[in-house]
Amino acid sequence: MAFKTLEWKKGKLVLLDQTRLPLKEVYVECLTYQEVAQAIKNMVVRGAPAIGVAAAFGMLLGARESNARTPATFRREMDKVSQTLLATRPTAVNLLWAVERMKRVAEENMGKGMLVVGKKLQEEALRLLEEDVQTNRELGRQGQILIPDGCSILTHCNAGALATAGYGTALGVIRAAFEAGKRIHVFIDETRPFLQGSRLTAWELMKDGIPCTLIADNMAGALMAQGKIQLTIVGADRIVANGDVANKIGTYSLARLCHVHRIPFYVAAPTSTIDLSIKRGEAIPIEQRSPAELTSFNGRRITPEGMRVLNPAFDVTPHRYVTAIITEKGIIQKFFRTGLKKICFPPSYFSPSREEGWEGRRRR
Ligand code: MRU
Repeated sequence: MAFKTLEWKKGKLVLLDQTRLPLKEVYVECLTYQEVAQAIKNMVVRGAPAIGVAAAFGMLLGARESNARTPATFRREMDKVSQTLLATRPTAVNLLWAVERMKRVAEENMGKGMLVVGKKLQEEALRLLEEDVQTNRELGRQGQILIPDGCSILTHCNAGALATAGYGTALGVIRAAFEAGKRIHVFIDETRPFLQGSRLTAWELMKDGIPCTLIADNMAGALMAQGKIQLTIVGADRIVANGDVANKIGTYSLARLCHVHRIPFYVAAPTSTIDLSIKRGEAIPIEQRSPAELTSFNGRRITPEGMRVLNPAFDVTPHRYVTAIITEKGIIQKFFRTGLKKICFPPSYFSPSREEGWEGRRRR
């Protein structure tokens, strides 16, 4: 990749500032967990997997700032760090997943002294970053089978290298298809109001030389009716137990349009985006963002003063409109409830021979 969305360099988290793209390629440094939290909230770093990885480094920075002398004090401090990070953006479950992973590592090493805890946290955050790239490559490799040669694909928002530690999810599948030599064309939804499509996806795909065309969000239906789109692929911020999918606002409308036009609607996401603790999509927390994202453009007001605004950042697509969910562990078509469970708890998980397996747990 010609750019790094996030990088750990000499004790700092370095982020490619996505609020400045595509006009400026500027990198910002986070030295404290509060700075990481601000960067997530202000969308300097965005996209569910990238938010998760950034939060892991936020936990690391939080631990490094600690002067705690006892595990109890350290635990209290880390609770504050995790609460601050978790409060930034509530929809992407990868954030919670990464914070929990970091907390577990801290807990497992607590008895070995703070130096060891710090070292183990750094190793875990770096592992999370590396794993995310590998996961996306695998997801892309598997998902590209669903992309026919010569097709036109619609994508929404940015589920690319910028939204992950690298390669991307929905764009990972598109990248893998392109790398496999398939002749594809990508239609990019502008993605109002934050313009992740026109600013970020367009930037990424053009950098890679993948043929693409920008459209305004309200053009998708007309293009589908004209037979110009053969499939849609998007990322996800949270996939719950029955297969309902939370993703960027506008995804639901696209899924319904695909349904009406009998066009496949694919969701590409790593297993870290799956949340089996929630049964149905209605229970997913939806982030509400500032009205200013709609009332202003480039810092200038574009609506009457005092205009009332609704600005949910995400919507929920019911599973019946999803053709398949593509993960690094396989593609799930139909029977999402069973498929998601199988992917999250593979048979080996229940094997008695596994040290930490179900049998082992039952014995304790
Ligand atoms: O508000 P954003 O830009 O963080 O929203 C991003 C999306 O909705 C993505 O589609 C999703 O996080 C998946 S990214 C691989």
